[in-house]
Amino acid sequence: MGPYVKLIWLLVISILLLGVSVVWFYKEFNPEWKQCQRAEVQENEALKGKKLEIKQILLTGEGLWSNQESGQRVDRCMTCHIDEEKLVKLHPKELPIPYDVYGCTVCHGGNGRALESERAHEHMYSDRDAMEEGRYSADEFIKMWKRLKILNPEEEIRLRRESFFGPTGRYQLYVGNDDCVDCHKKDDMHPDHVKRWSNTKFKTFERIKKEPDYQAGDENYKKQCYKCHTTGYREDKEIYAAEGVGCEACHGPGEVYAYLMQGVRDEEYDVEQGQKLAKISFDFSICGNCHIPKRHEMRKEYLKEAAAKEAAAKEAAAKEAAAKDAVKEEG
Ligand code: HEC
Ligand code: HEC
Ligand code: HEC
Ligand code: HEC
Ligand code: HEC
Ligand code: HEC
Repeated sequence: MGPYVKLIWLLVISILLLGVSVVWFYKEFNPEWKQCQRAEVQENEALKGKKLEIKQILLTGEGLWSNQESGQRVDRCMTCHIDEEKLVKLHPKELPIPYDVYGCTVCHGGNGRALESERAHEHMYSDRDAMEEGRYSADEFIKMWKRLKILNPEEEIRLRRESFFGPTGRYQLYVGNDDCVDCHKKDDMHPDHVKRWSNTKFKTFERIKKEPDYQAGDENYKKQCYKCHTTGYREDKEIYAAEGVGCEACHGPGEVYAYLMQGVRDEEYDVEQGQKLAKISFDFSICGNCHIPKRHEMRKEYLKEAAAKEAAAKEAAAKEAAAKDAVKEEG
C-alpha cells in the first residue's frame, strides 16, 4: 500500500466528517421550528420582522415528579403555529377555551414540549372527527377535565365546570329530562329517584312565573331567578337550557354520558364509560350553588317595598274616605 492510498483514505474520512458536521450545524442552527416560522412569516405580511424564537406557555400543575414527568407542563405548539390569524380561521367561533391561555394540548393532545412536528403530533387529535372519536373513552375525558381544572383554579362557581366541556372544547349540550326519564323510570334504573325529582321540580318554573315580584320585575330582575330556577343557565350568554331544576342541573350536561348510556339497548355504545363519566360529573357541592342562605334577598327587598307601597296606598285611601265622611257630615 503506497502512501497515496493512505492519504486518499484520510481525505475521504475528512470529507465525510465535514459533511456530518455541516449537517449537524445546519440542524442545530436551522431546526425545523425555525424553518416553520420562516415559512409562516413569508406567508403573512403581518408577521414580518418577528424574531425567530421559541414560543411557549407554561401550564401550571401536573408535570410533577410524582407523576413521573419532569418540570412544569409546557405548550410549545405555537412556536410553529405562530400565525394567530390562521388559527382564528381554523377554529370554530367562540370556543370557550382561549388557546393563548390554555395552550393547544388541552383539546388536541400531542406532546406540548416537543419542537419537532413528528414528535409533537404524536397521539394528537388533529381535527374534529379525531377529537370526537378519541375521547369517547371516559379516561380520555377525565384526563382532559383534570387538565382544565388545574388550568382554571379560580373557578368561583362551585360546579364541576370542567366536566361541562365536550371533546372539541365546546360546551356540552343539555339533552333534557325526557331522555333521562325514558330510561331511568324503568324498574331496575332507579325509578324512585326519578319520580321524586320529576314530582317536585320539573314544574316549579310555572310557579315562579306567577310570583308578583317576578311579574313586576324587569328582565334584569328576572335574570336573577334563572340562575337557580332553570337548568344549564349560562351567565356569560344569559341563556338557559330548560326551565326548572332538571336532572342535568345536578348531574351536569348529558351530551356525552347520555349518549354512551344508549349502550343499554345498542352494543355499539359503552354504558360503563357513560356511568363513569356521570359519576365524575356529579359533585355534592353543586347543591350549595343554589341552596345558599341569602338566596332570596332581592325578593325580600321587593316584597318589603311592595308592602310599604300597599300600606301607603291604604293610608291614603283611609284619609280620603275620612275626608269624604267629614264633607258628608258638614253637608
Ligand atoms: C416543529 C413545528 C411544529 C410543532 C412544534 C407543532 N406543529 Fe403542528 N403542524 C406543523 C406543520 C408544518 C403542520 C402542517 C401545516 C400545514 O400543512 O399547513 C402542522 C399541522 C398541524 C395540525 C393540522 C392537522 C394535521 O395533522 O395536519 C394540527 C391540528 C397541529 N399541527 C397541531 C399541533 C399541536 C397541538 C402541536 C403541539 C402539541 C403542534 N401542532 C406542534 C408544525 C408543527
Ligand atoms: C378549545 C379546544 C381547542 C384548542 C385549545 C385548540 N384547538 Fe385547534 N381545533 C379545535 C377544533 C374543535 C378544531 C376543528 C375545527 C373544525 O373542524 O371546525 C381545531 C382545528 C385545528 C386545526 C386545523 C385542523 C384541520 O385539519 O382542519 C389546527 C391546525 C389547529 N386546530 C391547531 C391548534 C393550535 C396550534 C392550537 C394552540 C395554539 C389549538 N389548535 C388550540 C379545538 C381546539
Ligand atoms: C338510553 C338509556 C339512558 C339514557 C338516555 C340515560 N341513561 Fe343514565 N344510565 C343508563 C344505564 C343503563 C345506566 C347504568 C345502570 C344504572 O346505573 O342504572 C345509567 C346510569 C346512570 C347514572 C349512575 C352513574 C353511576 O354513578 O354509576 C346516572 C347518575 C345517570 N345514569 C344519569 C342520567 C341522566 C341525568 C340522564 C339524562 C341526561 C341519563 N342518565 C340518560 C341509561 C340511560
Ligand atoms: C341562589 C339561588 C336562588 C335564586 C337566585 C332564586 N331562588 Fe327561589 N329558590 C331557591 C331554592 C334553593 C329554593 C327551594 C328552597 C326554598 O324554598 O327556599 C327556592 C324556592 C323558591 C320558591 C318556592 C318557595 C316555597 O316555599 O314554595 C319561589 C316562589 C321562588 N324560589 C321564587 C324565586 C324568584 C321569583 C326568584 C328571582 C327573583 C328566585 N326565587 C331566585 C333558590 C334561588
Ligand atoms: C337535586 C339534584 C338532583 C336532581 C334534580 C336529580 N338527581 Fe339524580 N342524583 C342526585 C344525587 C344526590 C344522587 C346520588 C349520587 C351519589 O350518591 O353519588 C343521584 C343519583 C342518581 C342516579 C344513580 C342512582 C344511585 O342510587 O346510584 C341516577 C341513575 C340518577 N341520579 C338519575 C337522575 C335522573 C334521571 C334525574 C332526572 C329525572 C335526576 N337524577 C335528577 C341528585 C339529583
Ligand atoms: C340549579 C339549582 C339547584 C341545585 C343545583 C339544587 N337545587 Fe335543590 N332546589 C332548587 C330549587 C329551585 C328548589 C325548589 C323547587 C320547588 O319549588 O319545588 C329546590 C328544592 C329542593 C328540595 C326540597 C324539594 C323536595 O324534594 O321536597 C330539596 C330537598 C333539595 N332541593 C335538595 C337538593 C340537593 C340535595 C341538591 C344537590 C344534590 C340540590 N337540591 C341541588 C334548586 C337547586
